This record gives sequence, structure tokens and C-alpha cells, in this order.
Amino acid sequence: MGATLCHYLYGSESKEGISPICIKLCPIRDRDKIFLTDKETNLISESWKIFKRNRRYNALEVLTLCIKKSPKFQKDLGIMKEGNKLRNDSHFRLHADSFVSFIDDLVDNMNNQNKIQATATAIAKYHRKTKLPITDFIIYKDNLIDYLLENNMTTKQGSKAWHRYLDRIPGIVRRIQKQPQAQPSKTQSTSRIPKSQSTSRVSKSQSTSRVSKSQSAARLSKSPSSKSNVK
Ligand code: HEM
Repeated sequence: MGATLCHYLYGSESKEGISPICIKLCPIRDRDKIFLTDKETNLISESWKIFKRNRRYNALEVLTLCIKKSPKFQKDLGIMKEGNKLRNDSHFRLHADSFVSFIDDLVDNMNNQNKIQATATAIAKYHRKTKLPITDFIIYKDNLIDYLLENNMTTKQGSKAWHRYLDRIPGIVRRIQKQPQAQPSKTQSTSRIPKSQSTSRVSKSQSTSRVSKSQSAARLSKSPSSKSNVK
């Protein structure tokens, strides 16, 4: 009861607001809460600013890196192209961009637990039907952090801060994905596309859950952050 009150009074946003004892005892405290120090938030924001100076290029590089390191990742992404064809694929580019928008949201809302949950929920929702293994999300965030470090966009200390923040996100996405979903009523339209419209690059197991590019773009514009106007 007291702990609940504590959450209502201080919110879950302020790391100073909740005493360590409350955090320890609180029955509604959950493992998804992430509290970063001011130093960590600064390290993350500073390196993210550098990344965003060349946002589109860096976004494509990170996604390319994921594919280079894991063929399984490419299979799950469903874009079986190589080299320039891969980099010029509109879905590939859109997805690289979505990822940066996702990180943008997370960086803008460090220590805002509700926003973090909302962002993770949106990602879980996009990927629920494809049942993406959580390892793919781990590969994505690890490659981002490696990329920041290898390209001097962060320091070792900064990369630790990034890990402390992002390492928790895949678990949150997984728990949200596992939550039972409300069944759509029969009259409600589903987002499935007729087989004739599904794209050839999508494997059979994915084809029912893919959408056309125009649908993707429309959904993307509703993504947690619509700051997807990378140059
Ligand atoms: C945390 C990082 C991720 C973010 C922010 C993200 C974002 C998005 C967004 C916004 C969409 C819907 C728009 C679109 O179709 O492009 C989407 C769809 C999709 N994503 Fe991701 N994604 C992430 C990770 C991944 C990973 C790791 C994979 C697989 C390796 C993946 C594979 C897919 C596929 C196959 C779709 C199409 C799903 C469908 O049409 O139902 N995503 N993603």
C-alpha cells in the first residue's frame, strides 16, 4: 500500500523521488524499470547526437552490420538481397530508419518509465505476428553499441551506459509480446494482405504477417516517434 502510494506520489520517473528502500520493497516495482545516473544519461545523449549528424548513413551501416554478423537476422528481416541491392531496398531503408526513431524515443525519454514502456509496446506490437526471436533484438542493440564505440561516437564508459540502458529493452519487448492479446472481433478488419500482394522476398512463414510497402510506410508514420525524416 505504502509502496503504491509512493509510486503515485513520486511517479516512477524520478530516480531521486523513490528511495532505494522503496524500490527494494515495492510490490509493484518491476524488473522493467531502468534508472540511469545523470552521468550515464549525458554519455548516451552526447554520443547519440554524434550518431545523428549522419543519421541515414549510420542507420544503414548498423543494419548492414547486423546482417553481416548474422545470416539468421537477415532471414528474419525477410530481405534476401546483397550489397547495393540490399542497401537500396526501400523496406531495408525504412527499417533502418525505424530503428533510429526507436532509439531516438528511448534517448529522449531516459528515466521516463511510462514512455519506455510505450515505446517497447509499439515495437512488440509491430513484431507480434512475425514472432521475431528476442535474439534478433539483442543483435540489433549490440551492433548499435559496437558501432558507436568502433566509430568513436562513444567511449568505453559511454558504451557501458548504453548497455545498461538498452540491455533491458529486449526483455521488456519479450514480456509485452507474451502478454495475452485481445482477440479482434469478427467484424474488425485484420491487417493481413491477400497472398497476391505479398512480396516475394518474404518467406512463407512470414508472408501472412507482412504488409505492403505503402502499408508499412503508413504504419511507420504512426510509430512511437515519427521523426523518421532522415537525410
Ligand atoms: C528494436 C528494433 C526494431 C525496431 C524499432 C523496428 C521497427 C519496426 C517497424 C516500425 C515496423 C513496421 C514498419 C515496417 O514494416 O517497416 C517493423 C516491421 C518489421 N520488422 Fe522491425 N524493428 C526492430 C527490430 C527488428 C528485428 C530485429 C527484425 C528481424 C531481424 C525485424 C523485422 C521486421 C519485420 C519482418 C517487419 C515486418 C513485420 C510485419 O509486417 O508485420 N525488426 N519493424
